[in-house]
Amino acid sequence: MKKPAQSQQPPPPWRGDIRSILISRARLARRVRTLARRIEIDFAGGDLVIVALLNGTVMFLADLLRGVSLPLRLDFIGVSSYRGGAEPGGLVFTTELRLDVRGRDVLLVDDILDTGRTLSRVQAKLLALQPRRLKICVLLDKPARRLENIAADYVGFTIPDEFVVGYGLDYGEKYRNLPFVGLLHPKIIHGVTS
Ligand code: IMP
Ligand code: MG
Repeated sequence: MKKPAQSQQPPPPWRGDIRSILISRARLARRVRTLARRIEIDFAGGDLVIVALLNGTVMFLADLLRGVSLPLRLDFIGVSSYRGGAEPGGLVFTTELRLDVRGRDVLLVDDILDTGRTLSRVQAKLLALQPRRLKICVLLDKPARRLENIAADYVGFTIPDEFVVGYGLDYGEKYRNLPFVGLLHPKIIHGVTS
């Protein structure tokens, strides 16, 4: 597991909203390539189904999959755990799994493991479908906030207890297109607009 380096200034278009860059584009790229290589080795020769959670995995997943040169299937589960902001809401399944995972190797991919409520619910749902094995891969791990007994098998970066956005992660559905992982300015989180 890697710790993020010291903070950096975001590019000008993002400076008003983003306090600092926590993980740069270059570090993301390097780490994602490393994770992809490990996954490729660990799942070689199996019957792999990648199950990604929507919508936060978009960028991570696209980059990760490019580095996994194995025959695999891809499916999505839609789950919404935050009602638009930084406070947890109820968990709602918005897209259900369509592929059959019974007897197959499943790699569950999410953007961030925070309290663990989302992944433990999804893990239970997948285990009930009797895959041959189920592993979890997350870009980010925020262990300080964990409420459920769950750990990921593949972690990009372990981060401190801060709300992050970018590289797929959102705040009120915004900032997913940032090419880096950044820290939101407190005025955004607290709703101050001036
Ligand atoms: P958990 O159920 O508390 O583990 O939360 C997992 C989900 O909450 C993730 O898939 C994210 O969508 C969202 N989340 C948790 N922490 C953050 C964050 O710092 N920034 C953006 N989204 C977050
Ligand atoms: Mg989210």
